[in-house]
Amino acid sequence: MPSTIAVLAAGIIISTALGPASWSALAQKLPAAAQIIDQKVFNVLDFVPPPTEANDSTVFLWPGVTQQSLTAKPFHIYDDEFYDVIGPNPSLTLIASSDTDPIFHEAVTWYPPRDEVFFVQNAGVPAAGTGLNKSSIIQKISLAEAEAVRKGTLAAATVTVVNTSNPQVINPNGGTNYKGQIIFAGEGQGPDVASALYVMNPQEPYNTTTLLNNYFGRQFNSLNDLVVNPRNGDLYFTDPSYGYLQDFRPLPGLRNQVYRYNFSTGAVTAVADDFTLPNGITFSPDGQRAYVTDTGIALGFYGRNLSSPASVYQFDVNEDGTWQNRKTFAYVPSFIPDGVHTDSEGRVYSGCGDGVHVWNTSGKLIGKIYTGTTAANFQFAGKGRMIITGQTKLFYATLAASGAALT
Ligand SMILES: *[C@@H]1O[C@H](CO)[C@@H](O)[C@H](O)[C@H]1NC(C)=O
Ligand SMILES: *[C@@H]1O[C@H](CO)[C@@H](O)[C@H](O)[C@H]1NC(C)=O
Ligand SMILES: *[C@@H]1O[C@H](CO)[C@@H](O)[C@H](O)[C@H]1NC(C)=O
Ligand SMILES: *[C@@H]1O[C@H](CO)[C@@H](O)[C@H](O)[C@H]1NC(C)=O
Ligand SMILES: *[C@@H]1O[C@H](CO)[C@@H](O)[C@H](O)[C@H]1NC(C)=O
Ligand SMILES: *[C@@H]1O[C@H](CO)[C@@H](O)[C@H](O)[C@H]1NC(C)=O
Ligand SMILES: *[C@@H]1O[C@H](CO)[C@@H](O)[C@H](O)[C@H]1NC(C)=O
Repeated sequence: MPSTIAVLAAGIIISTALGPASWSALAQKLPAAAQIIDQKVFNVLDFVPPPTEANDSTVFLWPGVTQQSLTAKPFHIYDDEFYDVIGPNPSLTLIASSDTDPIFHEAVTWYPPRDEVFFVQNAGVPAAGTGLNKSSIIQKISLAEAEAVRKGTLAAATVTVVNTSNPQVINPNGGTNYKGQIIFAGEGQGPDVASALYVMNPQEPYNTTTLLNNYFGRQFNSLNDLVVNPRNGDLYFTDPSYGYLQDFRPLPGLRNQVYRYNFSTGAVTAVADDFTLPNGITFSPDGQRAYVTDTGIALGFYGRNLSSPASVYQFDVNEDGTWQNRKTFAYVPSFIPDGVHTDSEGRVYSGCGDGVHVWNTSGKLIGKIYTGTTAANFQFAGKGRMIITGQTKLFYATLAASGAALT
């Protein structure tokens, strides 16, 4: 969740004599909203532009495609395994939008008892008025309205502001389900409001309890994302320095790393470091693998460092909850892998610069849900439904895959 929004520049169009290869064999079961991507078509280009022209924030348009053709059929099949993800009739619908305010940012969390999805504003961007002067707000929509927009009986889903109090959740960025409640990671505000984890009651009056706001008396940098391990029940969370990189938090006082919290003892320990900016975090459905995104290339208000990570790392989770065997799982060409989640089969999804990328458990890219704009985060809402936060755009996808069980 870095907080800068990637402005995807109009793309480069390069022509070449190569044509698409093997469409026909699979075309008969191709859903109306899907297209097959033949990666051989762009393996060799006539001219490959330098990094000042083709980089993380550039839309890659290869011979034979346009931005319009890529968004017209937004389910991009990179591998046959993606058919099982999308099913015979997937859909992608824009259900709400804002002119410039990035109000659809992260912490996408499904609340089954009311079939609502919560999400938050971007905590540190001038366009949202957030940062030092104003905390980002929590909002929600109803899935029934999302479905009505998809069916064409409603123009847009109603975005309702959720007013938390006693204490107010300050600058939430990440959110996760926990025993019928939602836990938010708040980034803090200025030097005196410490970054904290808050538990929120997802129903009126949306009362909250602060779960953790320090590491042995020292402030966290700006807590970003969090998840409960389904096997051992501990809460794992990332702490990069995006609050500082967006000018609303002081110089970081701790290493940018991943921590773990034991609900019964209150013990907090570091579980993994060696990240530039650890960001999204999730587990496989059996809790035996961890995935952390490192968005080191995106330095908030301080530009980009294109030789830093835009990567998803995988770890094995030991029986005792510690991590080992760090592995580079994926490196993303389009902006950053921000939010990361798994489905019920253990496939890995991450919100990137052009949509949600989907990998199989080996890290093979099998497809994309192509929004054509930054998909900061997303979450399954149970079986076959997904909400995607695209900063100024909120999307609703229907597909065959389901989310991993809630903790
Ligand atoms: C990335 O490419 C865009 C054009 O697509 C250019 O405007 C921008 O300056 C480039 N960024 C860097 C860091 O060179
Ligand atoms: C906070 O508000 C003051 C007064 O309106 C304004 O001058 C200042 O630029 C704002 N700061 C930020 C970081 O938005
Ligand atoms: C939050 O407060 C605003 C302003 O007081 C109000 O308009 C809105 O209805 C409240 N939201 C909820 C969910 O109660
Ligand atoms: C909200 O308030 C109710 C009633 O006082 C209490 O039982 C519950 O624990 C509170 N929830 C949180 C998250 O603070
Ligand atoms: C949390 O602490 C309790 C008490 O020491 C222990 O029984 C439990 O196993 C711990 N949780 C994990 C995941 O280690
Ligand atoms: C960019 O990132 C690389 C790799 O993380 C690092 O070695 C280098 O010092 C960084 N460059 C700048 C200008 O910060
Ligand atoms: C994922 O892809 C790899 C490489 O093609 C393959 O070996 C593996 O069987 C695939 N995994 C699944 C679950 O299909």
